[in-house]
Amino acid sequence: MKPELGVCYYPEHWPEAQWPEDAARMVETGLAWVRIGEFAWSRLEREEGAFDWDWLDRAVEVLGTAGLKVVMGTPTATPPRWVCEKHPGMFALDEKGQVRGFGSRRHYCFSHDGYREEAARIARLMGERYGRNPRVAAWQIDNEYGCHDTVISYSDAACGAFRAWLEAKYGDIDTLNRAWGNVFWSMEYRHFGEVFLPNLTVTEPNPSHVVDFMRFSSDQVVRFNRAQVEVLRDLTDAPLIHNYMGRTVEFDHYAVGADLDIASWDSYPMGFLEDRSDRDDDFKRRFARSGDVDFQAFHHDLYRAVGRGRWWVMEQQPGPVNWAPHNPDPAPGMARLWAWEAFAHGAEAVCYFRWRQAPMAQEQYHAGLLRPDSEAAPALGEAAQVTAEAAGMEIEASQAPVALIFDYESCWAWAAQPQGAEFDQFRLSYDFYRGLRRLGLSVDILPPDAPLDGYAMVLVPGLMHWGALAASLTTFEGVVVAGPRTGCKTPDMQIPVPMGPNLPGVPGTVARVESLRSDMPIRLPEGGGFQFWREVLEGEALEVAEDGVPARIGTVRRQYLGGWPDESAMHRILGEAATEAGLEVLDLPAGLRIRDAGQWRFAINYADRDWKLAKHIPGAPKGRIAPHDVSWWLR
Ligand code: GAL
Repeated sequence: MKPELGVCYYPEHWPEAQWPEDAARMVETGLAWVRIGEFAWSRLEREEGAFDWDWLDRAVEVLGTAGLKVVMGTPTATPPRWVCEKHPGMFALDEKGQVRGFGSRRHYCFSHDGYREEAARIARLMGERYGRNPRVAAWQIDNEYGCHDTVISYSDAACGAFRAWLEAKYGDIDTLNRAWGNVFWSMEYRHFGEVFLPNLTVTEPNPSHVVDFMRFSSDQVVRFNRAQVEVLRDLTDAPLIHNYMGRTVEFDHYAVGADLDIASWDSYPMGFLEDRSDRDDDFKRRFARSGDVDFQAFHHDLYRAVGRGRWWVMEQQPGPVNWAPHNPDPAPGMARLWAWEAFAHGAEAVCYFRWRQAPMAQEQYHAGLLRPDSEAAPALGEAAQVTAEAAGMEIEASQAPVALIFDYESCWAWAAQPQGAEFDQFRLSYDFYRGLRRLGLSVDILPPDAPLDGYAMVLVPGLMHWGALAASLTTFEGVVVAGPRTGCKTPDMQIPVPMGPNLPGVPGTVARVESLRSDMPIRLPEGGGFQFWREVLEGEALEVAEDGVPARIGTVRRQYLGGWPDESAMHRILGEAATEAGLEVLDLPAGLRIRDAGQWRFAINYADRDWKLAKHIPGAPKGRIAPHDVSWWLR
């Protein structure tokens, strides 16, 4: 596959006379794709039924004639004022019951039937107009489901839909009462009409109620997306895409992705490091101009799974963003490196956000490839460098040797009942992922129901209940590392009897658990320790903590880990397991990572210092990798 670059463009923001020159410059930079349209509803339909398609027809034509392939966005993340007046109940309500109103974007509740139909209607009209236009080579549906915390809504529409969802799931109210354990505080219901959403309670709501509400809310996203998919499928053969986000777990991305052809995500490495990272201040300062070296990779691997092999970066940070607490300039070279890193993980395309920096409205300080005065911003030259380097290159993402199971339902379970302040399923999974990457391993992220054929090792951190994975692990012959907290709940969010972990092939029990302050580590005599979380295990001990409590049970080939390993324990335990699996392991320094894709091995350096490549990576070409540089060779 030939890697391609693209850019996000808003023809409605610029005088029409500027479009041909913009298009020519995009082509000159080597860009292949241009995404347009996703916020343009008020310019397409100013009043209900008062359409103006002509400008968009001309924009598509100008861009297409220049040689660009268009990604057409449906504009349903930004319903105009008249739509909101027509559907006064369409706004989401926050946890306190306050309206999340008009004046920015994503001001809709996924459960509102009227708005879903309105969204499908505009998608249909766009499909009728552009679905067979050969210039339009892909579609993006909506924009960033969940951005600005918009999956969960406590509206009347959500409440009514939740009751219907519960009735369909449980059939009768006593089954729900039992599944949720509602006898506990006299919370039993007499009929589904008595169930409300799990907000505005005096103290914490029942976690079973919360997890079902999260499942329901996720299903509402799937349903909303599907309404547009169903309309567009009849009108176009071009692939349908959505652009997901970083560290967003409020809906099941695998389920949305199952209806689409390609997954894409919006990668803002420096914004993410500032805004949604658990790394300490020293790390954040050291990598402030490049980002966290494993964070983008994690999402590349995750969205490859969501897209069932086909994925893009739909928005790539080109310079400072406007939305994190601090927004530094990227180090020179990063706009190039981030694109190459995505290609190394199998991205078909990487599109920079955005072409020209906007002089108006909310994102005035968000960089583009051009400045507001149309002079080149630093990333323009880097994009041109990527397209020149990629010319003639073919990259195939091959299956990785290691699989990491990542599950959205488990994110909701531990958010509903963390039991310790730090317990967060994304954070736990990401720590395991980082451990694998420090060992120099390429990773596939998988949903729990994926086949495990061909993997040498599978990691299962924090999986709430075994589900379909139990059967695949029964026949899987590679190395398995599971835990902590895996298999310790029923699907109803209760403690199972027999108690966890119930890992096939490893007899043992989690007798009790404790969560720990970050300054109370449990030391492991062989190195490192457990942080935040530890379990008191019964079973055949593989390792015993300094205080005499089994830390791991089973064998190196198939083990259950009764705690959250710190960085050094993670390195040791995963290194031992990977060696047992027959994999070559390294110890890469902070900032340097490798990724194998088909015949290529890529080395990526997020650090502001250089490294002797062959010293850290056996088989690498002689010489040094410069700060913020990327290098690749045939492996
Ligand atoms: C994304 C969004 C874009 C733009 C960008 C700024 O979340 O999809 O429309 O707002 O962030 O970084």
